[in-house]
Amino acid sequence: LRVAVLGGGQSCEHDVSLATARSVAAALEARDVTVVRLTIGRDGRWRDPQGALGEGVAESLAAAVAVLGRCDAVFPAVHGPRGEDGTLAALLDLAGVPYVGSGVRGGALAMDKWATKLVARELGIAVAGGGLVDAGDPLPADRTYPVVVKPVASGSSHGVSVAHDDAGLHEAVARAGLLDPRVLLEDFVVGREVDIAVLETADGSRMVGPPLEIEVAAGSVFDTADKYEADPSFLLPAPVSPAQRTALRDAALALFDALGCRGVARFDFFLSAGHGLVLNEVNTMPGMTPTSQVPKMFATIGLPYEELVEQLVLGALR
Ligand code: DAL
Ligand code: MG
Repeated sequence: LRVAVLGGGQSCEHDVSLATARSVAAALEARDVTVVRLTIGRDGRWRDPQGALGEGVAESLAAAVAVLGRCDAVFPAVHGPRGEDGTLAALLDLAGVPYVGSGVRGGALAMDKWATKLVARELGIAVAGGGLVDAGDPLPADRTYPVVVKPVASGSSHGVSVAHDDAGLHEAVARAGLLDPRVLLEDFVVGREVDIAVLETADGSRMVGPPLEIEVAAGSVFDTADKYEADPSFLLPAPVSPAQRTALRDAALALFDALGCRGVARFDFFLSAGHGLVLNEVNTMPGMTPTSQVPKMFATIGLPYEELVEQLVLGALR
């Protein structure tokens, strides 16, 4: 089996994507798969381990498509916009190469945190209150603080901050607007952060991993620094009641289907005292190093990292 593993990308999750790609490639090699490593530079140029595949972006992309066309499948380990947002899926659909993970629709819907909220609400899954603003427009008056400010399309919490007053809100919206002019202003949800993941295995059945709780300091959010500069503290399985566990599982499966996800997706929730389960966001190409949340979840139920990665590739070939 010959599988191309794509890493890097043009979003601010470039480095995280390199880490995911490195781990995925090593796992596949351990399963005797021939791995073709390709990286998308921050400048958009596609590279192999020998260097850029062409002078310009378009030329390197054309050369990369030819390489991908000679592979049995692709593992697009690229987080964030121009990666898991459906763009790579579109390219691979057009090239006719099977790939791991969600297609255009699932990726695009889940990358858009506003669209995700609309779908969740329609399914009866609670989301944080709030609305969408354009970073360039005057901000709505009379807000109650704190407000969580997020770019609609981003990942790893880049551009996310908590504003405590009007001045902080202006700064936060400007910061988020650098990543996406569409900015979400959300009520701060007081609650525990609990994630759950759905995996489509090689035979097409679904596995839901055990919920994982992230220990976050009170009044804070799980931010980029917590995610990658510190060693985040996870409780696995999360200490939730059987009813909460069922609710998490049902919500994750309903979202997986409604968004049209494939392969694997991680659903990040809050367990709030007042509102029960509240969806935070969905990741269609979640972090996939052996110490990332999804691999840790499935490892505890008897699916070691290398097998998880292999299942995803075999699933793509179905
Ligand atoms: N966006 C990061 C990679 C995650 O969800 O794990
Ligand atoms: Mg995300």
